Amino acid sequence: QATVYKIPVVVHVIHNGEALGVGRNIPDAQIISQIEVLTEDFRRMNTDASNTPASFIPVAADVELEFVLAQRDPEGLPTDGIVRVNGQQSEWALTENYELKSLSYWPAEDYLNIWVADISGNYLGYAQFPVSNSLPGLENGSNSRVTDGVVIDFRTFGSKDKYPPANLVNAYNLGRTTTHEIGHYFGLRHIWGDDNGGCNGTDYVNDTPNQGGSTSGCPATSPTSCTSEDMVQNYMDYTDDACMNLFTSGQKTRIRTILDNSPRRASLK
Ligand code: ARG
Ligand code: ZN
Ligand code: CA
Repeated sequence: QATVYKIPVVVHVIHNGEALGVGRNIPDAQIISQIEVLTEDFRRMNTDASNTPASFIPVAADVELEFVLAQRDPEGLPTDGIVRVNGQQSEWALTENYELKSLSYWPAEDYLNIWVADISGNYLGYAQFPVSNSLPGLENGSNSRVTDGVVIDFRTFGSKDKYPPANLVNAYNLGRTTTHEIGHYFGLRHIWGDDNGGCNGTDYVNDTPNQGGSTSGCPATSPTSCTSEDMVQNYMDYTDDACMNLFTSGQKTRIRTILDNSPRRASLK
């Protein structure tokens, strides 16, 4: 049992001049549906927690993080935690990370910045890792403050279960892209350890079974690799949103270590 931390979030909607609620300029309700998914997933209050296989129930964890749209802006004035900016451009390449984020940014030591934009190519989202001087698998020292946060494509942000009109990509329509990216933002690595197909990689977490490679789609029977059942239901695999339903105790410990020690994470809560 740990303390429940509340994470203040600002969502920057970067559109291309669409009217409020249209296309890239997604409506408030879609944003709110995403924030609800985050709290459910990080508190293990997701309704599909019941789909976690019995073999993984002992390690399934309530990470004890809650997400709230900011109620005060950096000046201390009331806000709904949503900023809408016309970026004067349709798509944003990964190489335009800085230009995109420069359009709107709130101090990363006080807010988790989420940019919702049209990302070029088939990317669903990307995140900036925290720095850590103690955990393996992360850079130590410092990294860029003004790009800190996560970017999510507007087609995968929010949940069709909570906001049915949302126009989302089929396999990624339950808000788990943002859950996954925020996992990275709090220091989690991919569950298969990023070695393509081998069993030598690691996510530096003991209770996630070593897995050969990433899993896509939604396997009906659990695959086995590296001598054990793959935890394809983990948010840090590449399965479809509908098949993901857990973080583990080991992942929780790693996230909480970051939240207690990492610059621009420890000050968030
Ligand atoms: N490919 C992305 C990444 O590596 C996100 C994958 C999210 N998966 C999902 N089912 N939403 O960060
Ligand atoms: Zn990832
Ligand atoms: Ca592992």
